[in-house]
Amino acid sequence: MNLPYKAIVFFLLILVTSLFPIYSFGQATRNDSGLKDYYRDYFPIGVAVTAKQLADSDQQNFILTHFNSLTAENAMKMGPIHPKENLFFWKDTDAIVAFAQKHNLKVRGHNLCWHNQAPKWMFYDEFGKLVSKEVLLQRLKDHIYAVVGRYRGQIYAWDVVNEAVSDEPDQLLRNSLWYQICGEDFIYKAFQYAHEADPKAILFYNDYNTENPVKRQLIYKLLKKMRDNGVPVHAIGLQAHWSFNDPSQERLESTIKLFTSLGLKIQITELDVSIYADGNLQDKTVPVSILTAEREQQQAEQYSMIFKVFRKYKKYINGVTFWNLSDKYSWLDNFPVRGRKNYPLLFDTQLKPKKPIGA
Ligand code: GLA
Repeated sequence: MNLPYKAIVFFLLILVTSLFPIYSFGQATRNDSGLKDYYRDYFPIGVAVTAKQLADSDQQNFILTHFNSLTAENAMKMGPIHPKENLFFWKDTDAIVAFAQKHNLKVRGHNLCWHNQAPKWMFYDEFGKLVSKEVLLQRLKDHIYAVVGRYRGQIYAWDVVNEAVSDEPDQLLRNSLWYQICGEDFIYKAFQYAHEADPKAILFYNDYNTENPVKRQLIYKLLKKMRDNGVPVHAIGLQAHWSFNDPSQERLESTIKLFTSLGLKIQITELDVSIYADGNLQDKTVPVSILTAEREQQQAEQYSMIFKVFRKYKKYINGVTFWNLSDKYSWLDNFPVRGRKNYPLLFDTQLKPKKPIGA
């Protein structure tokens, strides 16, 4: 090889090597040092999204830089995807799943059976009377077969039942229409139908306040009964709508240990860390406050603690998903106090990373 030829080959080699990370992922502006890359040896890092966000190139790039798993914020819920008995609205979920397939991202299905965002037609007959248990279970089965069946092999995990356990200490299950019509059977049946529709999918029971010692005991009781009776529940989703001061490390670790003692895998399915101290169950009339430097620091410390715990239990935790992308928009902006802004995520309103998470 003469010298100019060698030089050309060398130049081409450098060029190809420098382009490789760009073209290998099909995204011209994507880099590979996002959040997901720091956690590659631990677990996938997911985010709740809308189909609209995925159609916006700036948000696409941001998502592809930091996340390697998607959850539909609303699109797959029963009401949005199955608004009438004989009508499914697939468009948004199809778009989310297609985006994930194209970019090699995981998709968690959320969710198949919940007391909220369920369509009214599901529970009533044409005269406006509540349907029988047989009718409701048949409708649930048809729903689950249709949705899980359509995305079999593309959605690797499903939140089968969401929030069925009560917040009252002396009551196991929430008094929802599901419960009023079917008793606890709707839970077992939902898991059975989902397993039949996609035997390979990992099936989750998903709930909030799972670190609360009273509620987690109720959830444990339900899940133990299901495991003992061979109901195909494989994992628990800790929603993780947390606060800067809650849960404590002790509560978080004891929760993880409690559920893994049942042989269940764990995912953190809806993570955010509110800058306010009002949890789901507490006073909704707290005064409006703003993000102070002190509160920002407390939030950073809380994030640091919880990720330290996640890393410690990586053997059991096989996914961590954030609920929304950045502080630009969070479902907590108006909840539980209307008109109050929250800043619960790792990226600020300009989509810039907040303080680094400590090692
Ligand atoms: C629950 C649900 C989520 C979402 C949040 C609030 O945690 O599981 O799907 O609706 O409430 O946004």
